[in-house]
Amino acid sequence: MSGLLWDKGGSAVDERVQRFLAGDDVLLDRALFPFDLAASRAHVAGLGRIGLLAADEVAAIAAALDELSDKFRAREFVLDARFEDGHSAIEAFLVGKLGDAGRKVHTGRSRNDQVLVALRLHQRASLEGLEARLRDAARALLERAEADAMTPMPGYTHLQRAVPSSVGLWLAGFVEALLDDAQLARLTRGWIDRCPLGTAAGYGVNLPLDRAGVAAELGFPSLQWNPVYAQNSRGKFELAVLSAFSQALLDVRRLAWDLSLYTSAEFAFVRLPDRHTTGSSIMPNKRNPDVVELLRAAYGVVAGAQAEIAATLSLPSGYHRDLQATKGPLLRAVEHGLAAVELLPDLVRGMTLDRERMRAAITPDLYATDRAVELAREGVPFREAYRRVAGQLDALGDRTPEESLRARVSPGATGDLGLERLRARLDE
Ligand code: ARG
Repeated sequence: MSGLLWDKGGSAVDERVQRFLAGDDVLLDRALFPFDLAASRAHVAGLGRIGLLAADEVAAIAAALDELSDKFRAREFVLDARFEDGHSAIEAFLVGKLGDAGRKVHTGRSRNDQVLVALRLHQRASLEGLEARLRDAARALLERAEADAMTPMPGYTHLQRAVPSSVGLWLAGFVEALLDDAQLARLTRGWIDRCPLGTAAGYGVNLPLDRAGVAAELGFPSLQWNPVYAQNSRGKFELAVLSAFSQALLDVRRLAWDLSLYTSAEFAFVRLPDRHTTGSSIMPNKRNPDVVELLRAAYGVVAGAQAEIAATLSLPSGYHRDLQATKGPLLRAVEHGLAAVELLPDLVRGMTLDRERMRAAITPDLYATDRAVELAREGVPFREAYRRVAGQLDALGDRTPEESLRARVSPGATGDLGLERLRARLDE
């Protein structure tokens, strides 16, 4: 490992200890690197504004950071175990390129606030990505709900056929859910959108840093003011981000469950597009809904990461190297969550419905509640109507699912689905 930032000369560095300290941290930093570069640029500009770097030094460092950014994207610069972490790599590059100007870049900052700000920018982008993907998925689901708003299918409770329902009602339930989840992603983004850079190791520094200017350059509407709190928020904010992801993936899990049931031969209501199914290595007849099953499992990945981070956070105030252990779970969960939600629109648009089978599954006994409520409307006390209908379940045959769906006019039900409300929310 080259050029440890904290090498004061003379300290012998044990290989195994170094490997243990670094772990896969430098590889994880690849995801943070573009954000670390952007934050470094803003920090340097801030140092220029308070006279700690000359204008030509600021310009030279900014140009070198741009070059590093380009090289990183083109894979000409590879961030790997040659460096202790991404932060060290940036400084090493700048020193190699610029000499003393590069040696000045870390003035007034610590890796403690450097990693915080890179993570914060990454979290902001993750929540933006989540919100956008959820809205795309909600749009695809709404299109399907509109196309089959009144297509009859049974409504289930306890997994037993209960009452007539519709494809529109089923799918619009997920539209509303995902719109709520998108809203939570946005609210969480607003909540974490505070700049920790300029808090240094967690106690500030004896310089009049232009924190506000640096924050503005990075698009933060405000500062995370207290330096101790900035450090103490590491992990806490990660959990807030993952909480938004977990809400979304809980809904995805339920939709995936429905699809895995409805695509089974026992239901055979839905058929998935071929590109979302796989074959069996031994059973030539199989088409397996593996994608749907992994969508169902995605919540578990996030829940595991939440547990890992929460378990690490039992710490006193200030920076502790323990906090590095929150990085991997966050990055993995976010990446997996985004990849999962991203698959939904194509899956939803490509699935086909067996409308005949759905309609045929509405057996006459499913009209029992309709009949009891009708009697109650005519003045029969509901409990009495209930008993009367229960005794004559075979006398309910002369109805159609469509009539039943139209008659359910309670707001939100099939007779008053209000898909235009969801459409309006989506177009907001
Ligand atoms: N890799 C470290 C982390 O994620 C960066 C900060 C290191 N700071 C330190 N004081 N050793 O926390």
